[in-house]
Amino acid sequence: MSIQTQQPQKVTVPGLQAQKQTGKKIACLTAYDASFAHILDRAGIDAVLVGDSLGMVVQGRQTTLPVTVDEMLYHSKAVSRGLERAMLIVDMPYLSYTTPKQALAHAGRFMKQANAQMVKLEGGAEQAEIVASLARNGIPVCAHLGLQPQRVHKLGGYHVQGRDQRAAEVMLEEAQQLEQAGADMMLLECVPQSLAAQITAALTIPVIGIGAGAACDGQILVLYDILGISIGRIPKFSQDFLTEAGSVAGAVEAYVAAVKSGTFPGKQHVFS
Ligand code: KIV
Repeated sequence: MSIQTQQPQKVTVPGLQAQKQTGKKIACLTAYDASFAHILDRAGIDAVLVGDSLGMVVQGRQTTLPVTVDEMLYHSKAVSRGLERAMLIVDMPYLSYTTPKQALAHAGRFMKQANAQMVKLEGGAEQAEIVASLARNGIPVCAHLGLQPQRVHKLGGYHVQGRDQRAAEVMLEEAQQLEQAGADMMLLECVPQSLAAQITAALTIPVIGIGAGAACDGQILVLYDILGISIGRIPKFSQDFLTEAGSVAGAVEAYVAAVKSGTFPGKQHVFS
């Protein structure tokens, strides 16, 4: 006699694509260890990002720049052990994807050693060659436009991007180039809601927003922000879900429900 256990259906890249097509909002959060990953997975999160934000919220650094590939690998392996259903996305840390060869070697480690299903990298049209090379090798890529924390020193701080018309046109163009190069997902960080809506409508791949408004196909936030435990104040685009929910699992469930129903983000969380 064989005992059959019911395994939850794994979230896949085509599955997320189908969610965009059917208008089912995609709920994502960051995680950095197995225990939180397990809670997120059970609460119905679609995709978990091991963000290089861990440099700031876990390691207490001022920026994400010092985070290494080995540190990302360590946290990604831990997160992977906590997941059954949710898709695992791993951030490529600063200067780990400066050439196609280097990007492939590092992304390959995340895929092979940490069971990543997708890698995320920051940058515009200049990354098209890297994205194409990863895509040719079967590595799904989430591109990241808008505020790119790995460029904080070039930008002079963490500011909303794409506010003037020329910058908005360039961002839309670059989003399309990255999709054409083979990106499977797009993350927009701190972008005016009207521009994010335009990019979401123009792309066929899912667009996930953080500080980019409700028209995106899905939302992502930093886990420690929604639990109100990040050092310093919570960003305008985030919300403490823990105080009202009373438990970590309840907070994540409330976030998932708010994203899926379209009640998060609200007017107070967006930029114009
Ligand atoms: O590193 C990170 O956590 C991110 C955010 C945009 C979610 O990239």
